[in-house]
Amino acid sequence: KRIAVAMGGYSSEFEISINSGGIVCNALDKNKYKIYPVHILEEGWYFVADDGKKHPVNKADFSFNDGTETIRPDAVFNTIHGTPGEDGYLQAYWELLGIPHTSTDYYSAALSFNKRDCLSVLKNFGVIAANSYFVNEGTAINVEEIVIRTGLPCFVKPNRSGSSFGISKVNEMYEIMPAIEKAYTEDSEIIIETALVGVEVSVGVYNKGEEVIALPVTEIVSENEFFDYEAKYLGKSQEITPARISEEETEMVQKEAIRIYKLLNMKGITRSEFIIEKGKPYFLEINTNPGLSAESIIPKQVREAGMTLTDFFNILVQNVL
Ligand code: DAL
Ligand code: MG
Repeated sequence: KRIAVAMGGYSSEFEISINSGGIVCNALDKNKYKIYPVHILEEGWYFVADDGKKHPVNKADFSFNDGTETIRPDAVFNTIHGTPGEDGYLQAYWELLGIPHTSTDYYSAALSFNKRDCLSVLKNFGVIAANSYFVNEGTAINVEEIVIRTGLPCFVKPNRSGSSFGISKVNEMYEIMPAIEKAYTEDSEIIIETALVGVEVSVGVYNKGEEVIALPVTEIVSENEFFDYEAKYLGKSQEITPARISEEETEMVQKEAIRIYKLLNMKGITRSEFIIEKGKPYFLEINTNPGLSAESIIPKQVREAGMTLTDFFNILVQNVL
């Protein structure tokens, strides 16, 4: 079978996605699959051959020439973080073309990539989360009103983004406006949330056919004020798998993550973040194309679960073939 590994994307996360894609290309079983790395960049979409030659993708049917013949992949392994690969656009495109892909479907991707909308749906089903406040470019900002809702410290986040780009932790009221300005560089919508105090944990959930399975839980201990970009990718954090929490807490987090996965109708690998505050799992967010690079959490959880990345990626591909 011919598997295109889609990587890149149009957001600040494109470099991380190229790393994730590289890991997937290396790990996928070469006896089972012929692998085609496809870069999806704003300047163009290309299949990148072993010799580094770029062959343009025909967007009408996602085909490309490999140097000798026209290839139409049997499935896509999607490792794009951020737009257009994690927010539903490419999912909808592949779904219209009838090309199976490893990520969740267009609607659950779009819904979960929008932090405000995802939280408002999940809160309706009893998922607990921080208090939040929403602003967009049309909103007149009233800093006092924000603080009444969220308290201090709070987090100011772009509503649709990843890898902590544009996020600030704010301790004082006067820092809110500059933090909002910073978040606007990533997105035209902003969400402001109460900073929870507790243990931050992250858990992968995936499906194997009809079965939904949680991976071991990872605890995140950041040397910085929060798990920001530097902490995530430049070693300024410790990610401890399995998390140093009780068995009951581990089970609670895994159960809640599976419940959320099913509520949102997820498919493929996702990773949910929680803060355990006073024994309760407060949901932060779900990533539908979580990082798979050497620094990322999912590969560590997969190894802790006793699988190789090759085994694991094989499950994700077999799910959709
Ligand atoms: N958004 C990054 C890649 C992650 O969730 O791992
Ligand atoms: Mg994220």
